[in-house]
Amino acid sequence: MQRRAFLKTAAGAVAGAQLWRARAFAAPAQAASAEVTVLLNEPIATISPAIYGHFTEHLGGVIYGGVWVGENSKVPNLGGIRRELVEKLKAIHAPVIRWPGGCFADSYDWRDGVGPRARRPRRTNFWVDDAQARALHNSPQQFDPNTFGTSEFVRFCQLAGAEPYLAANVRSLPALEFDHWVEYCNAPQGSSSYADLRAADGSPAPYGVRLWGIGNESWGCGGNFTPEEYAAEYRRFTSWIPRYGVRLQLVASGPNADDVDWTTRFFENILGRRGVAPPFGWSVHNYTFERDALAFDPDDYYATLRQAFTTEKVILDHWTAMGVYDTRRRVRLVVDEYGDWYHAGTAVDPSHIFGQQITMRDALSTALTLDTFNRHADKVALAASAQLINCINALFLAHEDQFVATPNYDVFALYAAHQGATAVRTEFAAPAAPGDAKLWGLNGSASYTTTPAGRQVTVTLVQPRLDQPLELRITLPGSSVRAAEARVLAAADVHAHNTFAAPHTVAARTAAVQMDGASARYLAPAASVSRITLTLGA
Ligand code: AHR
Repeated sequence: MQRRAFLKTAAGAVAGAQLWRARAFAAPAQAASAEVTVLLNEPIATISPAIYGHFTEHLGGVIYGGVWVGENSKVPNLGGIRRELVEKLKAIHAPVIRWPGGCFADSYDWRDGVGPRARRPRRTNFWVDDAQARALHNSPQQFDPNTFGTSEFVRFCQLAGAEPYLAANVRSLPALEFDHWVEYCNAPQGSSSYADLRAADGSPAPYGVRLWGIGNESWGCGGNFTPEEYAAEYRRFTSWIPRYGVRLQLVASGPNADDVDWTTRFFENILGRRGVAPPFGWSVHNYTFERDALAFDPDDYYATLRQAFTTEKVILDHWTAMGVYDTRRRVRLVVDEYGDWYHAGTAVDPSHIFGQQITMRDALSTALTLDTFNRHADKVALAASAQLINCINALFLAHEDQFVATPNYDVFALYAAHQGATAVRTEFAAPAAPGDAKLWGLNGSASYTTTPAGRQVTVTLVQPRLDQPLELRITLPGSSVRAAEARVLAAADVHAHNTFAAPHTVAARTAAVQMDGASARYLAPAASVSRITLTLGA
């Protein structure tokens, strides 16, 4: 389905759970066998911790009611920021958070969100005409009170231990305002009025923001530009920005999914013709689109996973196209929006535009995407799951003082061990997923770090088959396994999800793994995500 057509359909959809009758899922059968071979002598690259990043937009319940509850809220908070969210993000070592959009970014005036909160203006939100927003009444989802602005966002990042990644408005603000935003964030106190405003907003010390997106989806909501027009804007916005001693990492607005033409024409204009300094990153967005978040049958389930797996092709296609102009490989990919997107109807509150429940299906989809990034650690520098809370592919759902982590959170917790480790090529041999699934039967990634206890290897695995478990043998040619541990995320029913009333329906648990000298043996349950940690012999 065309992406924009889907957006329209999603906006008009009624609670899918009532409309959609799930077909029976096949009962689990005997285990099939599979082999995983970790090739430690074939390193790919260091896994940038930033590929485990997140995205927060002024969209529905993400900021207001999600991240920001206000200082006077009954919800435990740290100067207005939801405390439990901060604690959970610290636990998974959230490396980077993107803000303020998304489409919202290209309608946002950063000047509205600075200075004393009581004096900030109320502005029409980009999403005001979305069908879900129209059903609300005078809410922050329609008219943004700007109580959450740059200083609140940077403080949120600092509390969570994450790096801020800001997206500049290219569609509706002049380039000078981008310069001023950089100045507000990074100029030393006393040097300029904007630096002093930041100090008055609570931070005499510059924020030192390095990561800046130059627009968002500039082919669509970010201005409907052609690649040539966007390349001209990119040059105008990025030439001679004041740096204040900060090594800025600029991210250019890349294609929708596999639109290689956008990539080719941008790079032709930036590196081919003009010899402009290349951006640090090339942004790519890739979502899956299926019907209902909760009511789905095996076909829908495998369709979601197949779509999520297209991210591998998207990475390879754009990497190839970029290489024609970026022959020295200075630009890396930034997949700063990805996730499973369903029709409306399963949000925990009507104000959560694009809010949806998150099941085991989404955990598998997220995990296979993170594995894809690990396998392409030489190409992908940063990624952001869209979005953090109360939205598409969320890690958290919250309403007032109720808060729950979704199965996606467990995936990020399991995969955090890969951050900063060395990715290595790994082979997976398993029978393909059954019937019409048109999907591999096992995939994943592996990385190693060297610890005082010896070399430690992390293998993460996505076992998508609904019909049977897999009996795995994991070998590391040339190495022996001294200790092994496993954690698994699985549920008897792939529709399983967490709710405020039952927050631990899906939770990762310790699983059995056997060692036999040169290899480890492990039973991967049907529709599961696993992490095996292997300590190697000397
Ligand atoms: O994540 C929701 C929206 O999806 C973002 O605002 C936009 O960039 C994309 O189309």
